[in-house]
Amino acid sequence: MTVRKRMHLAAHFPGVNSTTVWTDPRSKSQIDFASFEHLARTAERGLFDFFFLAEGLRLREHKGRIHDLDVVGRPESITVLNALAAVTERLGLAATVNATFNEPYELARRLATLDHLSGGRAAWNVVTSSDAFTGENFRRGGFLDRADRYARAAEFVATARELWDSWTPEGVARPFAHQGRHFDIAGEFGLPRSPQGRPVVIQAGDSDEGREFAASTADVVFTRHGTLEAGREFYADVKGRLATYGRSPEDLKIMPGVTVVLGDTAADARERAAEIRRRQVSPQNALLALEQIWGVDLSSYDPDGPLPDIDPEPALAQGRVRVADPLAVAEKWRALSRAKGLSIRQTVIEASGRQSFIGTPEAVAAELDEFVTADAADGFILVPHLTPDGLDEFVDRVVPLLQERDAFRTEYTGMTLRSHLGLPEPVWKG
Ligand SMILES: Cc1cc2nc3c(=O)[nH]c(=O)nc-3n(C[C@H](O)[C@H](O)[C@H](O)COP(=O)(O)O)c2cc1C
Repeated sequence: MTVRKRMHLAAHFPGVNSTTVWTDPRSKSQIDFASFEHLARTAERGLFDFFFLAEGLRLREHKGRIHDLDVVGRPESITVLNALAAVTERLGLAATVNATFNEPYELARRLATLDHLSGGRAAWNVVTSSDAFTGENFRRGGFLDRADRYARAAEFVATARELWDSWTPEGVARPFAHQGRHFDIAGEFGLPRSPQGRPVVIQAGDSDEGREFAASTADVVFTRHGTLEAGREFYADVKGRLATYGRSPEDLKIMPGVTVVLGDTAADARERAAEIRRRQVSPQNALLALEQIWGVDLSSYDPDGPLPDIDPEPALAQGRVRVADPLAVAEKWRALSRAKGLSIRQTVIEASGRQSFIGTPEAVAAELDEFVTADAADGFILVPHLTPDGLDEFVDRVVPLLQERDAFRTEYTGMTLRSHLGLPEPVWKG
């Protein structure tokens, strides 16, 4: 008998970008603890696997100024999650922390502390920085080439695991010594083994190196591949890499970041989704998105007019995930605009959204389930467009339908994040 595949769900706290509609009167502070608490409690009410915080280590700039359409300023993730540990009981708590600018001993200690304080609910989303701009804020400065970034990240995680494994399960501290290309450290780790042994490791990054790193090291992959076809391809590719590392497909969960817009009818939902996109991509925001690809000032262009016929400059926009091939993106956008007769703003709206599930609660529940049973994903990281109550409607209207379909849990059966995710307990390497 085959076991019914159930989905995993996580909540992404809306971040500093155009997915959030900060102009909505219902939007509240991105810094007040009350906002984090509301979203986390909603996620726990919905029996979600974890609550996820992204990280940005430098305020984003555009044309040498702070990008005024971003909400600037957000608190440090692990600190916020430690506070949330006190007001939640089962929800996993995932922090994005960069592997390029931190040190294994210090970060392993902070993550183990979160795992202890939360009773085994900590996760670390290991990111590597793709731009030198971020590096300017750090002593080491600069940044690393992609291959080096992932080599450092892999050694970082391996070193952290040596530290977490250095205490015996009986509570005896044993000396550790790690000697490698990036780290050469020795001593005794400051904390006993934590409830999960090792916090859950999440990976977000899409290059070949990123996928290999995920296959060798991660428990969860946070991806942008959300459509059914792209999702299935990514899923098969990453799961196919696991055997090389002696791992099986269930050892790694693949969770795309997606948005959901509900309505009482399909037409109603489509209308709401279109309105949200219009508010996310204001005329000013549309030009900005274009400038980040073209690499030149386009302020003289009309957002309601056609795309520029000049080609992009190779210069990089600062503080953004790099556009690998601006010319290819520009050509794709121009073709889209020509084919559908779209203005600059309409093209950005159409080309830049992430995977969205739009419809009645019934239709959305069915579609989410279809993605999971078709192996396009193991679950989803939901990115709401409102802070802090952007998840309320999903939890109230879609979760019960998923449960009716037996596509999602009806109760937490364990205490740790690892157990929610169905991941094996890490074996202590004595
Ligand atoms: C879905 C997703 C989410 C990410 N979230 C963050 C983040 O919160 N903070 C950050 O510094 N980098 C983030 N990154 C950037 C990656 O860690 C990495 O630097 C970038 O994707 C370039 O690596 P790659 O070439 O392997 O894709 C994210 C990447 C992806 C794909």
